[in-house]
Amino acid sequence: MTGAPRPGVIERYRDFLPVGPATPRLTIGEGDTPLIRAPALERRIGGGEVWLKLEGCNPTGSFKDRGMALAAAKALEHGARVLICASTGNTAASAAAFGARAGVTTAVVIPARGVALGKIAQALIYGANVIAIQGSFDDGLAIVRSLAQRRGAALVNSVNPFRLEGQKTAAFEIVDVLGDAPDELYVPVGNAGNIAAYWQGFRAYQQADHADQLPVLRGFQAAGAAPIVAGRPVADPQTVASAIRIGNPANWKRAVQARDESRGAIQAVGDDAIVEAYRVLAAEEGIFVELASAVSVAGLLHRARSGASIGARAVCILTGAGLKDPGAAVRFAPEPTEVPATAAAVADALGWDSPPPA
Ligand code: F0G
Repeated sequence: MTGAPRPGVIERYRDFLPVGPATPRLTIGEGDTPLIRAPALERRIGGGEVWLKLEGCNPTGSFKDRGMALAAAKALEHGARVLICASTGNTAASAAAFGARAGVTTAVVIPARGVALGKIAQALIYGANVIAIQGSFDDGLAIVRSLAQRRGAALVNSVNPFRLEGQKTAAFEIVDVLGDAPDELYVPVGNAGNIAAYWQGFRAYQQADHADQLPVLRGFQAAGAAPIVAGRPVADPQTVASAIRIGNPANWKRAVQARDESRGAIQAVGDDAIVEAYRVLAAEEGIFVELASAVSVAGLLHRARSGASIGARAVCILTGAGLKDPGAAVRFAPEPTEVPATAAAVADALGWDSPPPA
């Protein structure tokens, strides 16, 4: 059996994207990520189908690659020589990868504290100019917005409409696999571009008669960084889920509009619930995500526990891979047991009977 090459999101969904013959078909193999059933979660919530969309399987380990493919392609088409963004880490890694691929310079501005090590490592090895500011993601976004006015620079945060256009392809893939939109979509909310992009995608597919229904959107923020839930910006956002440590989301209005049009909700989940979902995903489903991604599943478990009815078919978006942040796994899992290098000592540590002498 031979497999078809992965065309990337621009080529695969070009009929639904603002691309023309002059748009480079830039790709690093993004998209076409697995959508799998989650039997352990289904047992926990007591009925209904739960599906997981593994966006951490994108080439840089997060969902950002979809929108970045298009944002970088359009930047090239328009003659940009520099990509610039602020980031909690994943956007930086993705921008740096596409910048490298396209042969342009990438400048990323990240908070000096709190960005997961794997993401910094990625941005550096892809060759980006990494500037760590003594401030927050929100500070960084304000800075890059002003710097991006320079000629030849393209801002590739999700305030760039091409980011959302590319990102909406994840909704297409879900419908292409399930045959229709799910009843509910659970998604973590940080800068709030992703939830808005999914809504754009499901609506476009429905209008094109590829889907009959639209999902109810269920967005979740971390309780210490939940400006949309509170209805006002949060000055000093705090959460273990560093990717969504954001106090003033750029796509706030779009996210609220998507929430309301879908008759959904944006709610908060606490750090304990996020860590619990992070562990459950790894230990019961075999899916290792980063903490921010576990927020969607924390939201699902929270709703089930509080007696809310869950749609017959729910999809949880898992936005980023666990290895982005090995420090979190080491912090929230038990330590390895160290013993002398003998079979007897290992068997003893495992609670097994000692092996027979050789
Ligand atoms: N999950 C992960 C792993 C993320 O990295 C982000 C955002 C989100 C969820 C939230 O998505 O911002 O579209 O609501 N990360 C951005 C970054 C802010 O800079 O990498 P959103």
